[in-house]
Amino acid sequence: MRSLPLLLVFLASLVQAADYPLDAPAPDGRRPGGTISQELPAPPLGNDENKDIKRERNYPEQPPTIPHAIRDYQVDKNGNKCLSCHSRSNSAKTQAPMISITHYMDRDGQTLAAVSPRRYFCTQCHVPQQDVKPLVENDFRTIDKLLQDEVQRAGQSHQ
Ligand code: HEC
Ligand code: HEC
Repeated sequence: MRSLPLLLVFLASLVQAADYPLDAPAPDGRRPGGTISQELPAPPLGNDENKDIKRERNYPEQPPTIPHAIRDYQVDKNGNKCLSCHSRSNSAKTQAPMISITHYMDRDGQTLAAVSPRRYFCTQCHVPQQDVKPLVENDFRTIDKLLQDEVQRAGQSHQ
């Protein structure tokens, strides 16, 4: 008990003033500017693309983006609108692609009879898209492009 004040002094010495500005400029992207703590009006929402054409995936494990509108689709403890089309039993009727086997697996890789709770809230991973200018620069290359570039480089070094 006698060492308690000592402990408190020690802990207090660990708390130091932050050596970075606490109200830094907002990062580029969605925010129209200002600083982190400033509240500015939100930019207007764009329209979700609704072309019903599946999009290319950038890598095999990518959750495919949603190619249709999902406004007002309810997903909560009372119901899951997405599963009314995408579940195993409904996909034949609706011709929506069935959720894949991974959606039935728990974290230990055991396949369950019903959709795994960790895959229940679809929009955690699947998002609609809007036809807008990218917010930040991005030099991502798909795996195909990487392989192609690699082959090209190897070809050049053999000449
Ligand atoms: C009325 C039926 C219906 C509902 C409800 C529905 N979908 Fe779909 N979904 C489809 C159909 C049909 C397709 C195939 C492409 C198309 O026609 O848009 C599709 C395609 C998709 C794809 C693309 C799959 C791929 O392989 O590229 C994703 C992801 C998806 N839906 C997610 C969702 C999510 C998440 C919800 C709920 C927020 C949802 N869908 C609700 C019918 C539905
Ligand atoms: C934790 C992330 C996650 C959640 C939550 C999730 N998915 Fe997926 N989904 C994925 C990934 C990753 C893939 C692609 C690889 C795979 O099939 O696992 C995928 C694939 C799909 C596909 C394409 C299947 C195929 O065989 O082409 C559909 C359709 C889909 N998901 C619908 C849904 C619906 C509907 C829900 C909600 C009930 C949902 N997903 C919840 C990550 C998720």
